[in-house]
This record gives sequence, structure tokens and C-alpha cells, in this order.
Amino acid sequence: MSAAASWWQRGIIYQVYPRSFQDSNGDGVGDLAGIIARLDYLHGLNVDIIWLSPIYPSPMHDFGYDVADYCAIDPLFGSMSDFDRLLAEVHRRGMRLVLDLVPNHSSHRHPWFIASRSARDDPRRAWYIWRDPASGGGPPNNWLSHFGGPAWTFDEGSGQYYMHQFLPQQPELNYRHPEVLPAMLDCMRFWLDKGVDGFRVDVIGMLLKDPLFRDEPANPAWNGIREYQSLLHVHTANLPEVHGLIRQMRAFLDGWDDRLMIGELYLPNAELVRYYGNEDGAECHLPFNFQLIRAPWDAAVIRRVVDEYEALLPVHAWPNWVLGNHDQKRLATRVGLSQARVANMLLLTLRGTPTCYYGDEIGMLDVPLPLTLMQDPPALRQPEIAHLVGRDPQRTPMQWDASANAGFAAAGVRSWLPLAADCSTRNVASQAADPASPLGFFRAMTALRRAEPALASGFYQSLDADQPDVFAYLRGDRGSTLLVLLNFGAERRRPALPLSDAAADLLLSTAMTAPRRLSLAQLVLEPDEGMVLRLPAGSRVSRSVLSGG
Ligand code: GLC
Repeated sequence: MSAAASWWQRGIIYQVYPRSFQDSNGDGVGDLAGIIARLDYLHGLNVDIIWLSPIYPSPMHDFGYDVADYCAIDPLFGSMSDFDRLLAEVHRRGMRLVLDLVPNHSSHRHPWFIASRSARDDPRRAWYIWRDPASGGGPPNNWLSHFGGPAWTFDEGSGQYYMHQFLPQQPELNYRHPEVLPAMLDCMRFWLDKGVDGFRVDVIGMLLKDPLFRDEPANPAWNGIREYQSLLHVHTANLPEVHGLIRQMRAFLDGWDDRLMIGELYLPNAELVRYYGNEDGAECHLPFNFQLIRAPWDAAVIRRVVDEYEALLPVHAWPNWVLGNHDQKRLATRVGLSQARVANMLLLTLRGTPTCYYGDEIGMLDVPLPLTLMQDPPALRQPEIAHLVGRDPQRTPMQWDASANAGFAAAGVRSWLPLAADCSTRNVASQAADPASPLGFFRAMTALRRAEPALASGFYQSLDADQPDVFAYLRGDRGSTLLVLLNFGAERRRPALPLSDAAADLLLSTAMTAPRRLSLAQLVLEPDEGMVLRLPAGSRVSRSVLSGG
């Protein structure tokens, strides 16, 4: 990558879940004016790209991922002029704004679906996926919804079933109908013309389903817990022809200067990299890479995952890594508070665009909720596994300060989800005053990434550290070589590295100890410690390491 690399290669992506970031009007739900009020905070975090979960008009059955109008703002979040102001204020600070695009399904309240449902001969009928009941009655095939139950809902009025891989209130659009993609591209045009910097495209691999509607095969490895996992989704996701559709979306986006297309894809490395496109890179700029969320938190496993992804990346493809989002348990809950720093150091020192989730910079934890307080549809539809599938715990309001409602909403307001019990102590204000806090560390780490071209764009090479729990790698460019050492365990470790240098300069430790020169032979990693060091100029790594990895 050259110094002229794109903003989306250099930048750090920060996901804002709008409902939970900042309420400005006292309804207990975050809004656009609230986000605007917090932009200086985001700027000060050294993040560059803000991705907003959906803000479009929606009946909110899936909290905005059920879109009733792709070209407007839900009044809950504000007005179009609030949006224009947000975009201008983001750009004024030199940052970028990426919107969520949800093309796979609309809301059942979208005028397209209302028309489609109105009559079998309505011109919009085939914009959605309608089928007759099976010959003996019941759903047309065995397809399942991610959120529990069948992927089909019967419409009494027209005597047919429509398909939905999520809620019945999220009917799936039919991209085999020639008018549907152009209609969705028109929606993209609306935002691109406004100057939005790109889209994170929801469930991009699911846009096409089997035209023969064949049953999906049983999953022999099913553990009996989530019904959705009882089948192998070979006919509803990642069909070969979806790549052609994605290429059309990307070609359309490329009609505007320098915009970004991210795809949401939960796939292993080998399948994921296909979504960059072949060697022409004509699909997603960044197919979201969720391996750091999904893999066991183990140094050897993570090294394997990173090395494998680096090796599989098509020529010219740019890597990316994600540590959290609104669908996954929070980072600090998954790996623990101490390892959360190590994980952030990993995310922010790997090669490729990093994506982080709001609140993870202060070590926010999942907020355990009784079923009576849960709102997320997969939890309500599958109460017996609500604790596994409910996503409310990771979507609770941002913790800003020690005031009532932690600064998320005015005193006396009832926030849409409860705040964490520890919000009066775990918050931005208390951590901002302490350079050694999780927030202090996060800012130091993002500042270092920004200051060091080797981190933003240099090569990556893993090293054998000859110690369990230690993941070691180099990031380097012509100017400098940095050594990253991460201790994934709770034991003190003494890495033995294949480096000829006697000493290196500590630039940053997760423990926030002072920068100093350290002897490489006597290097000690404390439990849960990560370090970034600068090797002396002209440092040589043994050839075998660089060739063999
Ligand atoms: C994506 C979103 C998730 C949503 C689903 C259906 O996975 O991230 O929040 O429920 O798509 O739109």
C-alpha cells in the first residue's frame, strides 16, 4: 500500500448503534442530533470512518433492519436536515460516514411489499418471493428463519406463502426479478448523491436463493440447540450467482468517486475472500472478516487464522478485521477485561482496516437482562435459548459519565434498554481522566497506528516466539520495523524470538508503562500484556522466518 492509499485502507471504522449512542430529545432512544453532539469524542478517539446501523423509517421489529423507506430518516432518529448536518459535521472533521444498506429484505410495511401482497396479479407481486403451499399443505419447503421457525409465512388474502430468512415482518426481495436490483440501486443513488461515503451491506451473501426451492439438507454436526443450525444453508446463502449481483452493485457504486462497499459475511477465510471478486477485485472492497470474533481466543489459533487469511487474500485485496458488532457478545464479555486490551492491540496492529464497536473502547460489558426486559426478536421467539440468541445485552446505552442515565439521556428519562449496573464508574468521563484506563490505552493505540506508517500499511509477518500463549509478529515498511508481542494468557512469558537485535524500543504496552529501551533477550511479557516495540534500523530477521513464516 502506498502513502496515497485510500481513506478506507488507512482509516479505523467505528460502528455507532444509533439507538444507543446519545439521546438528545428525551425519548430514551439515541438520535442523529445526539451523534452530532458526540462527534468531537469520536474525532478524539482517532477513528476515521463512522458506520451507522440503519436510521431509515421502520416499524422497528428488528430495530431498523426492517426498512419501510430506503430514502428517508425515521422520525425517531431525527429529520433529513439532521442527517445532512451530521454528514457535513463528519466531513468537516475529516471523517467519513458509511450507512447500513439492507437490500435482502424490506419491512412488511414497505410500499413495495404492501403492493406485492395486495393481489397475485399486482405488478409488484414478483418483487418478493411467493410460493404455493406444499402439495399436502404447509410451507413450500423446509427453509428456516435465523430467528426461529420456518422461513415462510402464509398470507390468507392471496393463499400463498412469502419467504423471510429473518422475521415475518422482513419479507425477502426477489433479485431474480429484473426490476428489483435497479430499484435498490436507485436507493443507493439517493445517498451517494448526498455524499455518503459508502455502505455496509447487510447479509450480502443471502441476496439470491435456489430458484428450484429445494429443501436444505440436515446438518450432521447440529448440536440440537438452535433450530436454524439444524440445516446446511446451501440453497439460501452464498449461491454462486450472488457474485454477479454484487458485481453490479459495486459497478454502480464505482460511478461515484472513491466510495466504499463493505459486505456482511460470516464465512471462513477461504470462502470469505471470494467476495473481493476474482483478481479484478470487482466485488466488496471489504468483505467483513469476523474470524477474531468467531475463533477461540488462543494465541496459536489466532496466529493460524491471521496467517491463513494473509495467504489467501487475492492480489490487490486489502485485509480487514472486526472485533465487535451489535449482533455479537461484547469483546470484554467474550475475552475478559484484561484480554480486551490485548485484543484491541491485535486489531489495531494487524494489517488491514480495523472495525470496532461503540463502547468497546471503555470495556463495556454485556448487560445481563431477564427475559421480561429483552426486546430482541430472536430472544422473544426462542425464549428457551434467549440468553444465547438475544442481542440486547450488547446494545445497551453508551456510558458517558456518572450523571443520571450515564449521560446517554437526560435525568428521569427511561432509556430504551437499561444501562449497565457499573455505568457510574465505567464511563468515558472517568476514563478520560486516567491515561492508564482502557480508554487511555485505546487512544494511545489509535494514535500510534496513525503515526506509524508501518502499522497502517506495512507488511505483516508472524514469528515463532517459542512460548505458549504468545502471538508475535512484525509490521514493517521501508522506514521502520515494529515488533508486536501479545500474551493471550495469565502467565508471565519470556518470548524467544528469531531476531538478531539485542534491544528494541518499547512504544506502547497495554499496561501503559513508560516507553523505554528493552533487551530482547530478557524480554518479559506480564500476564495479559501486549507490547509494540520498534526494532533498530537495519534490523534483520533470519531468512527462514521470512520465507517460512
Ligand atoms: C444482519 C444484521 C442484524 C439483523 C439481520 C437481519 O445480520 O447485522 O442485526 O438482525 O441482518 O437484517
